[in-house]
Parts: sequence; structure tokens; C-alpha cells
Amino acid sequence: MEARAVKDSQTTITELMIPSYANFGGKIHGGILLSLMDKVAYVTASKHAGTYCVTVSVDKVEFLQPVEVGYLVSLKASVNYVGRSSLIVGIRVESQNVKTGETKHTNSCYFTMVAKGDDNKPMEVPKLILESEEDIKRFIEAMRMREIKEKVRDEMNDVRSVIEVANAREILKNERCTIKIRL
Ligand SMILES: CC(C)(COP(=O)(O)OP(=O)(O)OC[C@H]1O[C@@H](n2cnc3c(N)ncnc32)[C@H](O)[C@@H]1OP(=O)(O)O)[C@@H](O)C(=O)NCCC(=O)NCCS
Repeated sequence: MEARAVKDSQTTITELMIPSYANFGGKIHGGILLSLMDKVAYVTASKHAGTYCVTVSVDKVEFLQPVEVGYLVSLKASVNYVGRSSLIVGIRVESQNVKTGETKHTNSCYFTMVAKGDDNKPMEVPKLILESEEDIKRFIEAMRMREIKEKVRDEMNDVRSVIEVANAREILKNERCTIKIRL
């Protein structure tokens, strides 16, 4: 299986934000943007893998800047990291006011995708050729993030197994909730 460079699968999708994408507040629905992120992640991952890919996990999606109707949204995606069958795709989302040309960085997020073979099982993907310092930085960053996520996942499982419902009144005394157990 021949290694592929980051640039070979880099993908940009630009879409016009039409009125039917808006919520009641007149801004673009978060779900529309998520769907576009998923689409560009799929295109980028499957170009690298040369096969069908599925979305496994999504990290760091935050909607910090609202997007307006009539704006252009561009999603720039590249493969930052490859494991055996998984790929981490980094996506930079920008919105542009076409009248003024002003561009805002809306969000950067990370999609973990897994390549699947015809048998629907995870399939090995080509190695990634890192051609710049930026490619190297992104690969190491993604590798570290993957390690941290694995640790957090283990810790979360531990937390769930030791939650003491008996001490809930004490644990939750400063929280904005009220306990009213229905018998
Ligand atoms: C993701 C999936 C392929 C994992 O299958 P599995 O039998 O557990 O396979 P493996 O344990 O061999 O894991 C395959 C890869 O997924 C990665 N993976 C599994 N769970 C993961 C998670 N929660 N987060 C990140 N990566 C994960 C593994 O690390 C492994 O990566 P690697 O090959 O690069 O080391 C399987 O759970 C699946 O098909 N899920 C449904 C995906 C889907 O339908 N997505 C669309 C939802 S709308």
C-alpha cells in the first residue's frame, strides 16, 4: 500500500448559507454546519484511504461565532494523523461576508474516521507522508490528543463505576439541581 501525502487528500468545500438553513434567531443552525463538517471529513478521509470511511468520533466542535444567512462557509480539511485503520481529519471552518470580503475563523475541529473494507471491517490505511513542519506538528498534536482521549475515556469509565448516589445531597449541595425522588 503506497504512502500518500497530506496534500493529496486536502479538501475544501464552500457553501452558500441559504435562508432554509437558519434557526428562529435568523442564524445558521449548528446542525447544518455539523453536517458540512461530516461531509468534508468523509471526502478527505476516503480520498486518503481509497475506500469507504465512517465517522467514529468528533472533537472540539464549538460554535463561538454565529454564521449569518447569505455568508459563504468554507471548510478546509486535511488528514492530520493516521493509525492502522483510523484517520484524524482536522477541519478549519471560516465564514465570509461576500459584500465586505471579511472572513471570520468560526471553528477548528477534529473528526476521527475509520476506513472499512468490503467486509465492513476496519481496514489498514496508507501511511501519511509529512512534507512540511506544519504536517509534522499536526501529526504529533493529533497523536497526543488521541493518547489523552484514551486516558480520559478510561477515567470516565472509572468515575461512572464509583458514583455514590447515597452521598448525592452533599456532593450536589452547591449545584443548580433539586433532588425529588419519586417513589
Ligand atoms: C468505529 C468502528 C469501526 C470500530 O470497530 P471495532 O470493531 O471496535 O474496531 P477496532 O477496535 O479495530 O478499532 C478500529 C479503529 O477505530 C478506533 N476507534 C475505535 N473506537 C474509537 C473511539 N471511540 N474514538 C476514536 N477511535 C476509535 C481504534 O482506535 C482503531 O484505530 P486504529 O486501527 O487506527 O488503531 C465500529 O464501532 C463502527 O463501525 N462504528 C459505527 C460507525 C458509524 O456508523 N458511523 C456513522 C455514525 S452516524
